[in-house]
Formats: sequence, structure tokens, C-alpha cells
Amino acid sequence: MQNRMMITGAGSGLGREIALRWAREGWRLALSDVSDDGLQETLKLVREAGGDGFIQRCDVRDYSQLTAFAQACEQKFGGIDIIVNNAGVASGGFFGELSLEDWDWQIAINLMGVVKGCKAFLPLLEQSKGKIVNIASMAALMQGPAMSNYNVAKAGVVALSESLLVELRQQEIGVHVVCPSFFQTNLLDSFRGPTPAMKAQVGKLLESSPITASDIAGYIFDQVGQGEFLILPHEQGRMAWQLKQQNPQAIYNEMANMADKMRAKARAE
Ligand SMILES: NC(=O)c1ccc[n+]([C@@H]2O[C@H](COP(=O)([O-])OP(=O)(O)OC[C@H]3O[C@@H](n4cnc5c(N)ncnc54)[C@H](O)[C@@H]3O)[C@@H](O)[C@H]2O)c1
Repeated sequence: MQNRMMITGAGSGLGREIALRWAREGWRLALSDVSDDGLQETLKLVREAGGDGFIQRCDVRDYSQLTAFAQACEQKFGGIDIIVNNAGVASGGFFGELSLEDWDWQIAINLMGVVKGCKAFLPLLEQSKGKIVNIASMAALMQGPAMSNYNVAKAGVVALSESLLVELRQQEIGVHVVCPSFFQTNLLDSFRGPTPAMKAQVGKLLESSPITASDIAGYIFDQVGQGEFLILPHEQGRMAWQLKQQNPQAIYNEMANMADKMRAKARAE
């Protein structure tokens, strides 16, 4: 029976809600984050929801911490059935304003953190014929303005997931990638960017979501169960992706108009 899941970034937001959704099915959760308080709270909620597990501090930038976490999963659970590479941070700013340090920071967490998570856990997944669930974003597919480093990191997560889908079929390891649009979490706390105005704009976008992190976790649960590779939890996101495939220029035009508006707004402030 498969019932052991590990999640990175499980101390808040979507990571916590994914833990709770699977906890309700009685799964054992290996929860990691850089926030100890967040992890304690998630484990408490997981137990209340009917699951159990353990917590381990793990910064996804550090491969040795991920391999130590994989070892802990082997010792405590005897292996792992699903890994969820969810830890991530927010960023924004027009390309000309972003520093190379902004790029390094974003790529190190949102892209290389996922690469390292997959690599550290691959031996355990080979044993269990388990599944990989990578959390990307609609930003990977739509390339909204003033977030090029985030767009690139998340597009990398989609490309990595497609590569693994193809390469790992023979080992019977399932691969899924999730691309949500904006939704309300604590993601803004980690925001890094050149202007406070940009942070405020991202804040408004997070608030605008018609669905919650809990709804998204439920949708992921159902879609993983159905074996869906590309998981788009927002209805609007599914429509936008369809349009992009049919008429990419229409999306580029819309995004360019949005960039013009953002620049005009920034000038007025
Ligand atoms: N909220 C959104 O609008 C949105 C949209 C699309 C995709 N996502 C993605 O969803 C994922 C979860 O984000 P969220 O919205 O729940 O935000 P969140 O800030 O509530 O949760 C992210 C968690 O990741 C942890 N984290 C940050 N850096 C880390 C590191 N180096 N190592 C380990 N853990 C680290 C944080 O401590 C936090 O607990 C992210 O990958 C994010 O990019 C979010």
C-alpha cells in the first residue's frame, strides 16, 4: 500500500494544504521547510486531520540537507511513495531592474530546489515506483510582465517535469506538474524585487483568486489520482492555456498591454 509522502515548503500555504489533503486519507507525511514554527503547526494540523509523520528543517538550496531528509524518510518510513517539490519564493520587477543576484536567488530556490529534490529522492522512488509532483505556476506557461526570473524558474520546472516524464516511464515513476494562477498564501512574505510598488501589485493578484490553497490541494489530489500530467487548478488558467496553444500572439499582445499599464501606473506613483 502506498501511503508515504514528502513535501518541501510544508510550513505554510499550498504545502500545508497538500499535507492536510493527504492526511485525511491517513497518509504519513515527511514535512520539511526552513520555518520551524510553520512545520510544528502543519504537523499538529496533520495529526488532527487523521495523518501522522515527522518534520525536518530543510533548505532546498542545500543538496546535503535534501539527501539527509531522504535518508530520514528511509529510516522512519522505510521509503517514500510521493514527493512534492513545493518550496518556493516570489519575485517581481522589470528585466532591466532585476539584478543578477535577484536571478541567482530565484533560480536557486524555485528551479534548482526542485532539481535537487528530484535527484535526492530518485533512489527511493525507484524502489517504490512512486510519483513526483512538482509545483510550478501558470507563470511558466504565460510569461506575465515584470517577473521574468520567476517565469524562467517555473518554466524550468515544467521542462524538468516533461523530461522526467519521458525518462522515468520505464522505471514506472509517475510525474505531475502543477501550474496554479495566483492564490492567497504567505508567498508575499518572501517577495524580492526592486520596488515596493511591485510587491503591492503582486499582493493584489494573490488576493484576487476565486479559489483557495485548500481548493487547489483538493484538485491536485483528484488529478494525481487520475494520472493527469499537467495540472491546471484555475478555470481561467485552463482557458488561457488553451488560447495560448491556439493563438500565442494573442497572449503576447495581452501581456504587452499589461506591461504598458504597469509601467504607466509605476510612473504615476
Ligand atoms: N500563491 C500563489 O499565487 C502561487 C501561484 C503559483 C505557484 N505558486 C507556488 O506554490 C508554491 C508554494 O507557495 P505558497 O503560495 O504556498 O507560498 P508560502 O510562502 O505560503 O509557502 C512557501 C513555503 O516555502 C518555504 N520556503 C521558502 N524558501 C525555502 C527554501 N529555500 N527551502 C525550503 N523551504 C522554503 C517557506 O518557508 C514557506 O513555508 C511555490 O512554489 C510557489 O511558487 C504559488
